[in-house]
Amino acid sequence: MSAIEKTILVTGGAGFIGSHLLRHLVRTYPHYKLINLDLLTYAGNLENVRDIEDAPNYSFLRADITDLDAMRSIFAVYPVDTVIHLAAESHVDRSIDDPLIFVKTNLLGTATLLQAAKEAWDGNMDGKLFYHVSTDEVYGSLGEDGLFTETSPYDPRSPYSASKAGSDQLVRAWGHTYGLPVVLSNCSNNYGPNQFPEKLIPLFINNIRHRKALPVYGKGENVRDWLYVEDHARAIDVILHEGQLGETYNIGGHNEWKNIDLVRLMCRLVDEKLGRAEGSAEALITYVTDRAGHDMRYAIDASKIERELGWRPSLQFEEGLSRTIDWYLENETWLDHVTSGAYQEYYDKMYGQ
Ligand code: NAD
Ligand code: TYD
Repeated sequence: MSAIEKTILVTGGAGFIGSHLLRHLVRTYPHYKLINLDLLTYAGNLENVRDIEDAPNYSFLRADITDLDAMRSIFAVYPVDTVIHLAAESHVDRSIDDPLIFVKTNLLGTATLLQAAKEAWDGNMDGKLFYHVSTDEVYGSLGEDGLFTETSPYDPRSPYSASKAGSDQLVRAWGHTYGLPVVLSNCSNNYGPNQFPEKLIPLFINNIRHRKALPVYGKGENVRDWLYVEDHARAIDVILHEGQLGETYNIGGHNEWKNIDLVRLMCRLVDEKLGRAEGSAEALITYVTDRAGHDMRYAIDASKIERELGWRPSLQFEEGLSRTIDWYLENETWLDHVTSGAYQEYYDKMYGQ
């Protein structure tokens, strides 16, 4: 057996994107040691990584990224040379309801992790990397035209996007001030298996399954650019290995959908798969009060990562969506587990009984 080539600390690896990233890295790089660091908040679920938990190159640590002593001791015990930082509070609606936990986790947590990495790597930054995973929401909201590029000015407008924007700037500051080797990526909306059913796609699949109302905010005219989560994981892999230090890469699917069109497509696909009458899911569509400060349109110009690193999305949206719906319908136990208890309280608070 050959030596460990890298020791990678992945934060937020029990969440949606982190679990797909870990699965991809654990299977692709048997000589990398992958440590999943996660606090297991409501969004973290070890069922998401069950299929890799026995892999010899994988381990899990439960810890809070805002706890400096805990972060220091992890760097003291493990020879971490790479951090891929995904741990965050990630849902816009929750950030409107309870903004301070977003400030704590996304800002203080990122600064704490940066500081622990800097202290551990001080004097020898060779071969080290702090990779920060972020969102296109830091760029604000687009009108009908235009795309976000890596040089678009930051204009975050929700507590979630503001806390992510601040975390990006903290990463750059540790890079400029202390010479920490950093790289960042900002990705558009992800979809796929294992996404917590508070986000549009899994929430609506679950509601259709239970014949519950589909709460479309406002007129349903807001636009999002959707990318299959495994394509995001592949992009992170490419940036990890080929990205230039200090650079930022935008990742997106060239796949813009108006919410209401996406919801109608989902309705048709789920009805077909459940053998229900055409139109039965659409009848559940309910227009509700718009989200406060609702960003109108996000769309990514991904030409830099395509040109410089050769990454491209692999999956057509209808295929990705169909696969995603199949996964949720085949994994009802997963859905039932994550939608019990605290989820029900959240749901009642957001959408009423
Ligand atoms: P998620 O909410 O599914 O997972 C977040 C994970 O972070 C959870 O496992 C949670 O337990 C963990 N976590 C939260 N607070 C923590 C703390 N204090 N210490 C340790 N772990 C903690 O999120 P996701 O959708 O997988 O997003 C992952 C990252 O990607 C986030 O940084 C998010 O901003 C970014 N991102 C997400 C999307 C998207 O569409 N979901 C798009 C672009 C970027
Ligand atoms: P979401 O999945 O929360 O992602 P984000 O807000 O980070 O883009 O929402 C995607 C879009 O769907 C967004 O425009 C808000 C809208 N939406 C609804 O219309 N109803 C809902 O219940 C949810 C959760 C979202």
